[in-house]
Amino acid sequence: MPKLTFPENFWWGAATSGPQSEGRFHKKHANMFDYFYEIKPEVFYKHQGPDTASNFYNDYKEDIRLMKSAGLKVVRTSIQWSRLIDDLEKNTVNDEAVKFYNAVIDEFLAQGITPMMNLHHFDLPVELYHKYGGWESKYVVDLYAGFAEQCFKLFGDRVKFWFTHNEPLVVVEGEYLFEFHYPQKVDGLAAVQVAYNLQLASSKAIASYRSLNLDGKIGVILNLTPPYPATDEKEDVRASEIADLWLNRLYMDASVKGEFPQELVEILEGEQALWQATEEELAIIKNNTVDLLGINFYHPNRVERPKYSPNSLAVDFMPDKFWRDYEKASVRMNVDKGWEIYPRAVYDIAKDIQENYGNIDWFMSENGMGVSNEERYMNASGVIEDDYRIQFIKEHLYWLHQAMEEGSNCLGYHLWTPIDCWSWMNAYRNRYGLISTNIHTQEKTLKKSAHWFKQLSDTNAFEL
Ligand code: NOJ
Repeated sequence: MPKLTFPENFWWGAATSGPQSEGRFHKKHANMFDYFYEIKPEVFYKHQGPDTASNFYNDYKEDIRLMKSAGLKVVRTSIQWSRLIDDLEKNTVNDEAVKFYNAVIDEFLAQGITPMMNLHHFDLPVELYHKYGGWESKYVVDLYAGFAEQCFKLFGDRVKFWFTHNEPLVVVEGEYLFEFHYPQKVDGLAAVQVAYNLQLASSKAIASYRSLNLDGKIGVILNLTPPYPATDEKEDVRASEIADLWLNRLYMDASVKGEFPQELVEILEGEQALWQATEEELAIIKNNTVDLLGINFYHPNRVERPKYSPNSLAVDFMPDKFWRDYEKASVRMNVDKGWEIYPRAVYDIAKDIQENYGNIDWFMSENGMGVSNEERYMNASGVIEDDYRIQFIKEHLYWLHQAMEEGSNCLGYHLWTPIDCWSWMNAYRNRYGLISTNIHTQEKTLKKSAHWFKQLSDTNAFEL
């Protein structure tokens, strides 16, 4: 069996988020999803909301101990704005929340796990949407920068890796195009402005971090969906290039190079759909690029020409699900999500970063396999035998390793997620964790993959 070896100090880790793990306990404000569940519980799988999540608020000590047993050396979670800040406009902090996040960070460090903190994981305080239009508003962008500054000042002595957003594209798509997040708007113009405002917010938070001269690094977590034309006919190839600009390059270019892709700007201008920006803001974006990138990868994009507007980014085509049609993908699917499994895309992403983004430091910040009814794989001792997950990880690591051999500056691989948690509309349907959660008793158990991952992290190697 060939053996693949990774560098010493490779970041073997996993990622979760505050809104998906903590539960709403003692939280002063509702975030977008807390509220969505309050008003429309029926749109969530089995009507299950984020109230308990995986009970991290109460179980964090035990959970972190289990993460250690699964071999995790680095764990990313997030600080909930709706928990940390008491008065959202005066930016005052909630003492109980400060105590909680301090305890969490200290527990990670005590267990020898490096904590990474993200500042926005689809969880804007809903009040800021209702009063000001949320990310559509530049006032909210400034409030966010204030919240970020509080986090850096309170926790930046111990947290050395910060991220401004997780998957900003999903906010744009879910909230403004495809209706899978509250407020379920379909508004291409607002979507374009929100994409810009999220970038501005990220750059402002980075500026604030740098001004504090803390010893650490800051970046952003982007979900890349590498586009591959469905056929080699020129209409599909062109559609694929345009999808790439909107889905990937916008955030990649702005985060790493400090500017938006010129071609995208021109297309949007041509459609009279370009965002409102000032010179001063563009200078902030230019001067505050990231130290490192976290890349979430789940599935590629097989792009077909749109049914109409074949060569434009016109607002009217956006609700056409961006020409994606996962059903058509002839290859294996990421079990219950209908996501195509295509591990080679990891190599393509790494090469793209190497060739087009100065080979900036990056890590795979999420990759994972969601499986429903995972209890069916439980053995007599209550352990889920998830060999499929081990195989999935191996196949993705194979391509990552290949790219690293060719010089990619990849620093780590993080699985979504350490412990089965709550997942937005899908609630607890698809399980991704190395550790299972019984959602009725909150009992947590290492899966077979957790034992395998521990060995991987101890030896920095695995057999194919
Ligand atoms: C990406 C997101 O960051 C996370 O919140 C989500 O649950 C996973 N993908 C799985 O879909």
